[in-house]
Amino acid sequence: MATFNEKKTCSQRMENFGRFIWNSDTGEFMGRTPEKWVYISLYYVAFYIVMIGIFALSIYSLMATLSPYEPFYQDRLPSPGVTMRPDVYGDEKLELIYNVTDKKTYEPSVKMLIKFLEEYNTTTQQENNKNCTGVTDVARFLTGPGRTKYACQFLESELGDCAYNPDHEDPFGFQKGQPCIFIKINRVSFQILGYIQYTNMHSVFFLLDRRQFI
Ligand SMILES: *[C@@H]1O[C@H](CO)[C@@H](O)[C@H](O)[C@H]1NC(C)=O
Ligand SMILES: *[C@@H]1O[C@H](CO)[C@@H](O)[C@H](O)[C@H]1NC(C)=O
Ligand SMILES: *[C@@H]1O[C@H](CO)[C@@H](O)[C@H](O)[C@H]1NC(C)=O
Repeated sequence: MATFNEKKTCSQRMENFGRFIWNSDTGEFMGRTPEKWVYISLYYVAFYIVMIGIFALSIYSLMATLSPYEPFYQDRLPSPGVTMRPDVYGDEKLELIYNVTDKKTYEPSVKMLIKFLEEYNTTTQQENNKNCTGVTDVARFLTGPGRTKYACQFLESELGDCAYNPDHEDPFGFQKGQPCIFIKINRVSFQILGYIQYTNMHSVFFLLDRRQFI
């Protein structure tokens, strides 16, 4: 009568293990016939193909609902991509402080504005953006092939006194104590916006950048 705690010798154990790997009596490899192993492999291949398919389909359907050009939640942005130049955000306060008689204190702001406006010079704008002058259906005019959207030109010359003139001794009015402040609003919705010139606030301009989203 066999008992459960019957002691086996090491060679018996090895033999049992060997028989588990390859059982010549039943033709089983690791407890299954080769034919069964083929079925098991086929099952797993099919299983993973279906899993990959489901995964790809869910990613594809999610991506299909997103536009690369429009933020999904247009009403949940804390600010509509508003930035101000000269950039004073580094100091946390929205104050632009400089000494009118000391050029060194406002020179960095002037340099920053020159660099900032470079992108709005005529050549750059003509190369990158479309001339929307006299176009009535702007939305259609700006629709490109595929999902591309073009942007209207915004020329520096539209800034009047605040346009950069290298020959001017006081380019942005810092020396006069009336510096130009540019407020840039990135487009965050479908709407095609114009640009607003606040004439009653001296030299404050809103540049509506039609190219970028935040
Ligand atoms: C402004 O600059 C002038 C000339 O550099 C200097 O004399 C004056 O003290 C400065 N004013 C302040 C408030 O720093
Ligand atoms: C416009 O800016 C680019 C650099 O952004 C510069 O190479 C080009 O000379 C500028 N054109 C004019 C007319 O100022
Ligand atoms: C844009 O078009 C208008 C009218 O078609 C033209 O007067 C103007 O010079 C053009 N602007 C640029 C920057 O090409």
